[in-house]
Amino acid sequence: MTEVEVHHWATWAEIVAAIFTVLALTFITAPYGRHARGGWGPTVSNTVGWILMELPAVVLFCAIYSLGDKWSERAPLALLAMWQFHYIHRTFIFPFRLKTTGKRMAVSIVGIAVIFNSLNAYVNARWLSHFGDYPSDWLTSPAFILGALVFALGFYINFKADHILINLRKPGETGYKMPKGWLYDYVTCPNYLGEILEWTGFAIASWSLPGLAFALYTAANVGPRAFQNRRWYREKFKDYPPKRKALIPFVI
Ligand SMILES: NC(=O)c1ccc[n+]([C@@H]2O[C@H](COP(=O)([O-])OP(=O)(O)OC[C@H]3O[C@@H](n4cnc5c(N)ncnc54)[C@H](OP(=O)(O)O)[C@@H]3O)[C@@H](O)[C@H]2O)c1
Repeated sequence: MTEVEVHHWATWAEIVAAIFTVLALTFITAPYGRHARGGWGPTVSNTVGWILMELPAVVLFCAIYSLGDKWSERAPLALLAMWQFHYIHRTFIFPFRLKTTGKRMAVSIVGIAVIFNSLNAYVNARWLSHFGDYPSDWLTSPAFILGALVFALGFYINFKADHILINLRKPGETGYKMPKGWLYDYVTCPNYLGEILEWTGFAIASWSLPGLAFALYTAANVGPRAFQNRRWYREKFKDYPPKRKALIPFVI
């Protein structure tokens, strides 16, 4: 099998993984954060778990990208910058902003995320710097400009929504409070909405099957959790606004 075929099958494996993930997460709630529970084997600290989970998306991605024939071209470099802008924050800054002292994460969850992030790093990094073909004027194409704008909007929503959640706790607190204001008046999980928008934007900007595969996987991963989180809030807070949607304002 040639590497082109390997890459093609790896991309489709990611799409199949998205389908399995949405089906599995409809029945099983991923056991981390507010849904953490025993029975998933040994655990590590939440901070270490987040860093390990996301590390392949920074380190492996850069390593694979650097091996591509087109690594120094402008459009692949711009798409690399978008990717790393998100993942350097997620891996090295976000875990230290969380107020989750004493909380732990199952090693099995970390392991599943490392496997997925490694597959995703190969599929997307190899595409950007090797198999993809971006002409020198790609950066002024409608697809790139629209995708970059959607990505930026998604990042802003994701960052601000996480910032609001993280700051609901005073230093030392570990409990949960009801988020209010801004997009929280419309949906339970604007952070997940932002995350989906980001990777939809990346898929448009790269106009590629690998980008689409990751956007689909993201929606499959965080989409069901938005409904699980809303159910959790409704059980925990009797005054939880009954009309608040889970993920998309006024829709679902
Ligand atoms: N691309 C992907 O497939 C993917 C998958 C998963 C997550 N993510 C992203 O990773 C980020 C974190 O995801 P997550 O699932 O951990 O988000 P989350 O459950 O909303 O939690 C985010 C942080 O806020 C805290 N928090 C949440 N609700 C709170 C409340 N009501 N009161 C006080 N503190 C609260 C959480 O504490 P606890 O940890 O103590 O609950 C956690 O530290 C998000 O930006 C998400 O989009 C991406």
